[in-house]
Amino acid sequence: MIGKRIKLAELDSEDFDLLNAAKMALNDSYAPYSKFNVGAACLLDTGEIIKGSNFENSSYPLCLCAERVALGAVHAAHSTKLVVKMAITAKGSGKLIDEPITPCGACRQVLLEYEQKQSEDIQLILQGQSGDVLILNTVKEILPLSFDAEFL
Ligand code: THU
Repeated sequence: MIGKRIKLAELDSEDFDLLNAAKMALNDSYAPYSKFNVGAACLLDTGEIIKGSNFENSSYPLCLCAERVALGAVHAAHSTKLVVKMAITAKGSGKLIDEPITPCGACRQVLLEYEQKQSEDIQLILQGQSGDVLILNTVKEILPLSFDAEFL
């Protein structure tokens, strides 16, 4: 199995707070087309928390994922700081999401580049609206055989 599955009650307070920040970011989500809200929150090495949420467009391929919005916000205002962790959560309009939500393939690739840029792994803390939390210690765990700068 990839990563470590734990109960919400087993999270330490730092991770619990970060996941809550991701849940707060759901309120900023602009997803009128999919009605699928995604929230992300990055913990920086300074202790600051930077949030992001998905941001859709009537031209569907232009939709931005929460993870990349959050990383963009970090890059815009905190580019010298390290992203230590990112919490990600989601809420749909239909069924309750009780399984951890994992980043899409494009976000995995972007997160991987961020790990390489900062030479530090990014821990991922993933949860749906309820249920177990999945902890991944590095993006590399969910993007094997990845393309990276080594090939260029
Ligand atoms: N979405 C994210 O924000 N992150 C992901 O990793 C998967 C998908 C968003 C994009 C779109 O706004 C909605 O979820 C449905 O795909």
